[in-house]
Amino acid sequence: AQKIIIDTDPGQDDAVAILLALASPELQVLGITTVAGNVPLPLTTRNARLIVGLSGRNDVPILAGCDAPLSRKLVTAENVHGQTGLDGIDLGEPDYPLTPGDGVDFIIETLRREPAGSVTLVPIGPLTNIAQAMMRAPDIVPRIAQIVLMGGAYFEVGNVTPTAEFNIYVDPEAAAHVFAAGVDLVVMGLDVTHKALTSPDWVAGMRALGTRTGEAVASWTGFFERYDRVKYGSEGAPLHDPCTIAYLLRPELFSGRRINVEIELQGRYTTGMTVADWWGVSGRPANALFMNQIDRDGFFALLTERISTLP
Ligand code: BDR
Ligand code: CA
Repeated sequence: AQKIIIDTDPGQDDAVAILLALASPELQVLGITTVAGNVPLPLTTRNARLIVGLSGRNDVPILAGCDAPLSRKLVTAENVHGQTGLDGIDLGEPDYPLTPGDGVDFIIETLRREPAGSVTLVPIGPLTNIAQAMMRAPDIVPRIAQIVLMGGAYFEVGNVTPTAEFNIYVDPEAAAHVFAAGVDLVVMGLDVTHKALTSPDWVAGMRALGTRTGEAVASWTGFFERYDRVKYGSEGAPLHDPCTIAYLLRPELFSGRRINVEIELQGRYTTGMTVADWWGVSGRPANALFMNQIDRDGFFALLTERISTLP
């Protein structure tokens, strides 16, 4: 199985990504590290414990990482995800254990312990933990197999400012570090994820599974949808973060281009923008496979197939 670490700030779409990974035998989730993002760290960590608890698994360590961006004040998104970050269904308080220790150290130690080139990082929140790990332990960088992340946008521009996507906007310095690290990067931005919209039929299908995870997925996406309906007028909730896990399972569902992507750090209006050189006009070397297309039906069929195997 492909070994992965999921770095996350759950979030309803993070939750679906985590469940998809835990339901997939092709993937071995070595651990889940939490970061401040959609909501502050105590809540993202609580939410990660609730999600893994729901999955019925008991073998996946969860560690808390950074509680603030590298140098900026934390920006959160309760307007999108609700006060808990995981609004939509009441799951009570988690009983799934938090593993003691620091999430950043866990990333470092895991990459040092596992064979070089065997561990893929899947960041689906701000990139703070990943950048911290690279800065604290530069020796891990060449050991990373690949980074498949959710963040950024180009043709779809921004969702938190006119030009910036949330995960990059919250910690652009961290993103700049990761994009400059020389690691094989796959980027799932809004160009892809705004096409991964739930349909009422799909949500009804989740509920009809009659399982606790099906009920949770239906309830989370129902909550998440409200925001996008008002803001973008779109039907359905964008399942941003699950695109990363779906790519690891079925890369042929996605297409894009290998291009140069730089992170804007000091734009007057554009801080946190992923400046994507789609037409290759800058002469700067490619550093990312920047995705912009998805086979939507294939993606939702995969989600249904896998979520239906969970309790
Ligand atoms: C990203 O921001 C968060 O709100 C979502 O969980 C996703 O990771 C989308 O911009
Ligand atoms: Ca997220």
